Amino acid sequence: MRESVELFIRSVHLTAAILWFGGVLFSTFVVTPILQQNLSPENLLTIHNRFRTLIRLMIHVLLTTGAMVFFIVALNNGFFTGNSNDDFKAYMLIFVVKLAAFGIMALFWGLYSSFYRKHLELAPPDGDAYHSQSRHINVWRGLMLVAGLIVFALTLLL
Ligand code: HEM
Repeated sequence: MRESVELFIRSVHLTAAILWFGGVLFSTFVVTPILQQNLSPENLLTIHNRFRTLIRLMIHVLLTTGAMVFFIVALNNGFFTGNSNDDFKAYMLIFVVKLAAFGIMALFWGLYSSFYRKHLELAPPDGDAYHSQSRHINVWRGLMLVAGLIVFALTLLL
């Protein structure tokens, strides 16, 4: 029973990770460059707000299921009975670093999405939302993608 619960939580975590990272990559490199040249800022804002809701949900799912998986691994390794070994201490260290990288990534996502939203709200209705976009918006998005890759890399070490 415990194994199937663990498997279920892990699969939700993995699905949320794929949706989050895949969604951000697809939006950054495929959808946004095309839509920005063809849609009004108002329509772009509607799309961005929908996307924000989905990503915010995924971030919460990742946080909740990640904490649950960690709890299960800790339980399996005797952490709560004081029987954990050195391997688990190394695991915990990588986990904490992954959590910090996740926090930084979520911060960059928040900055990017708020600045981009503000940019679209202030853009003239018939203006060119693409060429008037400030560089710092793309910088926050790039940093968020890098932080996301670091989270994935740390997961490989777990
Ligand atoms: C962008 C954010 C994140 C991504 C992309 C990500 C990605 C992943 C992936 C792909 C796995 C392997 C899934 C599996 O088969 O078990 C995993 C496992 C795990 N994640 Fe995350 N994760 C993220 C955030 C988090 C957070 C916030 C936490 C903690 C609160 C967390 C804790 C864990 C733990 C404990 C495991 C199990 C590792 C193991 O022992 O096998 N993750 N993560």
